[in-house]
Amino acid sequence: MSRTTLGQRLPEIRVPPPGPASRALARRLQEVESRNVTQITATWPVFWEEARGANVRDADGNVYLDLTGAFGVALLGHAHPAVVEAVRAQAERLVHGMGDVHPPSVKVELLERLAAFAPWDHARAVLSSTGSEAVETALKTALVATGRPGILAFEGGYHGLTLGALAATARGRFRDPFVSRLYRGVAFAPFPDPVRDGAEASGRALARVEEILARGAPAPDGSVHPIGAVLVEPVQGRGGGRVAPDGFMGRLSELAVDAGALVIADEVLTGVGRCAALLASTRVGLRPDLICLGKALGGGLPVSACVGAARVMDAWPESDGEALHTSTFLGHPLACAAALAVLDAVEAEGVVGRARRLGDRLVTELRRALRGVEGIADVRGLGLLVGIELAREPGLDPSTGAAARAARAALAEGVLVLPSGDHGHVLELTPPVDLTEAQLAHGVEVVARAVRGAA
Ligand SMILES: Cc1ncc(COP(=O)(O)O)c(C=O)c1O
Repeated sequence: MSRTTLGQRLPEIRVPPPGPASRALARRLQEVESRNVTQITATWPVFWEEARGANVRDADGNVYLDLTGAFGVALLGHAHPAVVEAVRAQAERLVHGMGDVHPPSVKVELLERLAAFAPWDHARAVLSSTGSEAVETALKTALVATGRPGILAFEGGYHGLTLGALAATARGRFRDPFVSRLYRGVAFAPFPDPVRDGAEASGRALARVEEILARGAPAPDGSVHPIGAVLVEPVQGRGGGRVAPDGFMGRLSELAVDAGALVIADEVLTGVGRCAALLASTRVGLRPDLICLGKALGGGLPVSACVGAARVMDAWPESDGEALHTSTFLGHPLACAAALAVLDAVEAEGVVGRARRLGDRLVTELRRALRGVEGIADVRGLGLLVGIELAREPGLDPSTGAAARAARAALAEGVLVLPSGDHGHVLELTPPVDLTEAQLAHGVEVVARAVRGAA
């Protein structure tokens, strides 16, 4: 089916999801996948067969409107034609190379583009496949460059589930089973949340940041780890689409510089245009030394990068043939070709401006549709990263799990959304930028109905 048919459609639910084909796949999956990976219930999940633009078709032929962008990856829409063509053309020439030994030429092109895209005169990058790996690279880089192992990260932050990234991710649910394996020199500061903590939120968070930067991160063995890295999302994604008050990120950057620590912007979700800027850091006043990219960068192919100012990256020694940090699929040709196509399309198709206009519309329409509904603490966003926060008492107690209930209700009507926030109390929308007017209006109507039922 052509892109104009699947891609720009409203949902078409033929059988209540999950239909018989999805349920049969779920039973097979349950036999062979580790039990923790995919949650399977009577109402969840549906199995995808095809996706274009803002539409997904499942194994039962149901068509959905995807307001998740598949974890924020499909910023340009699913199966953007230029990405598909770039991958096809690359696959005909070279499917796999030897990333850090005899590299594929397309790796050089991508690194040059990333260096041009970066906010420093001279930048260097390390490629990888997942967001977590980009964070691992950044944390290693900060240690190599500063000699200080301590990390300052934020409550509500999410940086991935590999052991290094997890050590800097605050959420107990993810950490607790593995805590004995995690690096302990991480101190968490509050991420300022004026909805819950009032006008003083920023000041209090910055005071804590100053304290941690001055004292270091106390490890449980009594030692203190001086802070070499301040790891922060310009807008917290999985923490619930949280945007810090104006001025916070700028002051955080100053404090880090004064303390001799490097700022790592985790832009795995926010980067490449989602927040209506190539880098969300520029919109919120954060001045990073290292930037992690992933998700949307590959347009659906797994590619990530830690991009840094050369003055920082050059702390790494020259390779003597055994790279200190690399991986088998580093600079994978298909992923590099896809990323180049994404960066071209972001520029040629005015994605930044479109994300701004569409994101503003989405927030405005959601606020209108949810006006006066009890249990809504906030509707907010930056570009196409939007959160609807659900509270038991407006502005106060998170309505635990309410966003998952809303996501299930929306699924039944053919709209894909996901819960986020420490208490599963924020419904997160990270839609593609090619959402049509009709899709936006329909999505808002369904989401508002689902939220009203769950709030
Ligand atoms: C801000 C942020 N950092 C890092 C990650 C980890 O990326 P991945 O799941 O690709 O390892 C995520 C994933 O959701 C993320 O949102």
